[in-house]
Amino acid sequence: MKTVNLESLDALSIFAAEIAGALKPGDIFLMDGDLGAGKTTFVRTLCEHLGISNVSSPTFNIINRYDSDPLSVCHMDLYRCESEMSIDLLDLDEVFARPNTVFFVEWASRLGRFMPETYMKMNWELGEGECRTISFDSGT
Ligand SMILES: Nc1ncnc2c1ncn2[C@@H]1O[C@H](COP(=O)(O)OP(=O)(O)OP(=O)(O)O)[C@@H](O)[C@H]1O
Ligand SMILES: [Mg+2]
Repeated sequence: MKTVNLESLDALSIFAAEIAGALKPGDIFLMDGDLGAGKTTFVRTLCEHLGISNVSSPTFNIINRYDSDPLSVCHMDLYRCESEMSIDLLDLDEVFARPNTVFFVEWASRLGRFMPETYMKMNWELGEGECRTISFDSGT
């Protein structure tokens, strides 16, 4: 397990740039943690580093897709999947099979049987002010 402490939004941007520079097609980031800790802000900031500028929260759409060259981004938020809709309707096996794509899933603990085989787990914790703690764990 690796832990990163971010002390500001500027630190988030540097962190997001590092991750953006190391992405490979098929990478999957499964994100959980505190409400409002910064999962969406992280994906938005990372996408800016990839040249994608119109990232909004997928809380209502569930799945947002940004086609881009060389890497497309698929940004999901499963927050509403527990109560309002069944995750079975999302055809996630097909979603995760999209080529040249990297995947970011908020509230990923709700994936259930759609949990992919290989992924990076990120747990987001709120701190004081702009402080955030992210714990990583690679799962296979
Ligand atoms: N270091 C930081 N990293 C990320 N966000 C930060 C940081 N400091 C402050 N913030 C602010 O915290 C808020 C995080 O909101 P965001 O919607 O990204 O959280 P979230 O984890 O996606 O929430 P939800 O669980 O509701 O989906 C934003 O307003 C952002 O500007
Ligand atoms: Mg969010």
